[in-house]
Amino acid sequence: MPLVSLELAADPAPLPSAAVQFLQAAMVRTAAWFARPGVVAGAGFLPSDYELVYRTLRTLRAADRHARTLCEWGSGFGAVAGLAAQLGYAVYGIEIDAELVAHSRALHQDFDLDVTVVQGSFVPEDYARRERLSDLDTRTVMSGPDAYAEMDMALSDFDIVFAYPWPTEEEQYRDMFRRRADYGAVLLTYSSEEGVRAYRKVPKRGL
Ligand SMILES: C[S@@+](CC[C@H](N)C(=O)[O-])C[C@H]1O[C@@H](n2cnc3c(N)ncnc32)[C@H](O)[C@@H]1O
Repeated sequence: MPLVSLELAADPAPLPSAAVQFLQAAMVRTAAWFARPGVVAGAGFLPSDYELVYRTLRTLRAADRHARTLCEWGSGFGAVAGLAAQLGYAVYGIEIDAELVAHSRALHQDFDLDVTVVQGSFVPEDYARRERLSDLDTRTVMSGPDAYAEMDMALSDFDIVFAYPWPTEEEQYRDMFRRRADYGAVLLTYSSEEGVRAYRKVPKRGL
């Protein structure tokens, strides 16, 4: 079950005004979140580069018209989820932090975006028990109930998964996707050093 890298250049065309307005609101609300007293920077929620993710998703949308469903693993404020909904995907977000779930739902509601955000874990329960790398330096919560049943979806139902893993978690995320996603599905990951990378799950050669 290999993952092959996809070359997806960020679409340079200007963002539509709906995306600009949504992003402005997301940034204002995110800034207020980080301005709270006692907030610990670098733990839990960290925003990705939303404009870059949007531009890359727009390239993917044009290149793969068959992809319809997208899941944001660890959806935080739901900014990527909202932008993906604006691009026409059927979007789900999974977020462990109940406060972030509430904020993201409010943001989507204020912009009339049809996104389902569920509180829980994107790590499939059986994966967490059997396959996780034990020596991993991780900020992702690796245990607890997963959110797929509540969404009435399985990880293998999604055409695209977006995630922003901590650098030491990237291999773990790719492994989870390799084992549980459907053939043909695409994993998009953001990293502050590498930008957005894309991988497609393909069958082993000869199968
Ligand atoms: C680096 S932030 C990325 C947020 C968002 N995707 C973005 O691009 O702005 C990772 C998010 O994953 C959440 N998280 C950590 N472990 C999780 C888990 N097992 N299931 C769901 N969310 C999780 C954190 O609370 C945090 O909001």
